[in-house]
Amino acid sequence: MIIRRKNYLYPGIFRAYARHLAAGELVAGPSRERFEAAFTRSIGVPFGTLTSCGTHALMLALEHYRAVGSLPPDAEILIPAFTTYIVPELLDYMGVRYRTIDILPGRTTMDAADLEAKVGPATRAVLVTHLMGNMCDLAVLEVCRRRGLLVIEDCAQVHGARWSDAAGTPAGGLGDAAFYSFGYNKIITSCNGGILLTRDAALHAHARRRMGATAEPTALNVSKKLFVAVAENVMTHAPFAWALVPFLKHDAALKRWKRRYNHFAHDQFDDFRRLSNVQAAWALEQLDALPETLERRMRQERALEADAPVSVSFVERRPGDVSYLVIARVSDASACREALFRAGIDTGIGTTIMEAFGGVEGQPGLARSLATYVQLPAHFDLSERAVELIRRSLSAFAHEP
Ligand SMILES: Cc1ncc(COP(=O)(O)O)c(C=O)c1O
Repeated sequence: MIIRRKNYLYPGIFRAYARHLAAGELVAGPSRERFEAAFTRSIGVPFGTLTSCGTHALMLALEHYRAVGSLPPDAEILIPAFTTYIVPELLDYMGVRYRTIDILPGRTTMDAADLEAKVGPATRAVLVTHLMGNMCDLAVLEVCRRRGLLVIEDCAQVHGARWSDAAGTPAGGLGDAAFYSFGYNKIITSCNGGILLTRDAALHAHARRRMGATAEPTALNVSKKLFVAVAENVMTHAPFAWALVPFLKHDAALKRWKRRYNHFAHDQFDDFRRLSNVQAAWALEQLDALPETLERRMRQERALEADAPVSVSFVERRPGDVSYLVIARVSDASACREALFRAGIDTGIGTTIMEAFGGVEGQPGLARSLATYVQLPAHFDLSERAVELIRRSLSAFAHEP
């Protein structure tokens, strides 16, 4: 069974863990400041604050905007209809009202025209979410600016990507606030982690204050994160992967399991901890290797796409995008998922790729995407044989009568 998602255990993760353990620097130490400064510099903004995960960073920004009156209690934030469930979960938890915006057909990001049409009197902010390696169009930013809306960039899935402005500004460099995730299977992973980025000194001061008052994890908490990463990685190898089949096959079971499990692997909204030193060290080593990582991911994506039949296309990459999740576009996504599953390829059978919020009514781009998008396995250590099997299976499906 070729599982769709897999945690990346980068070469060096155990060495770094052992080194930090021996030095008594698992939790606190100099790598935190080093990584925070290096990542912030790489985006080109003046302020960055490490957090325990991307969700935590978003929470800090929303808290601040509420406290300074930029997001009054009756205000709403617009978010894409296609994203990860944890974002609306956090908004519900914080009591922040939101409405959803359609995505562009053939892409995974917001439709600027739908955004423009849905801005209402209560709208104060937009979560500009770059998804699956794809950057939002500049037009989305232009609508926000013209309508005087706060821009919070969600960069959880686009490490190394750039806006299509003349300067090629890195993702996260144009918003009022931005956050990245270093979650378990992200392009850079610290086995959960995040950073809040901004040019706004007041937001930065709030983030600093809050993180100063946030509890440290214990060495056991930190070690558990590595354990989770290893255990998940092992589970995705045959024969263990076959044990996951009942979960993969049943939409409802998978979703329930995924959420419960994610709450285990993730800090809780009301119990966020600081990012530990060793996790920052892991992320720093991967930041240094990011150009090669992106190149390798793009090479693999091109191999998956090579010689595709005419009836199969792929979610388009534009200059500035990176390769993260690889999405094939077919005539009938659920039939294609079934066919690939029979060939031993998990594409999230019966499930949508990410999750759709607010329903598909009035969101034709999303409806069309859900009916035609299939997420292919595209993780770091996909073998050439696996790539070949995926290509052949996709081709066989396309040629089925
Ligand atoms: C698009 C998107 N936004 C936000 C998040 C939340 O990040 P984290 O899991 O680090 O809290 C994720 C990660 O799953 C994501 O993919």
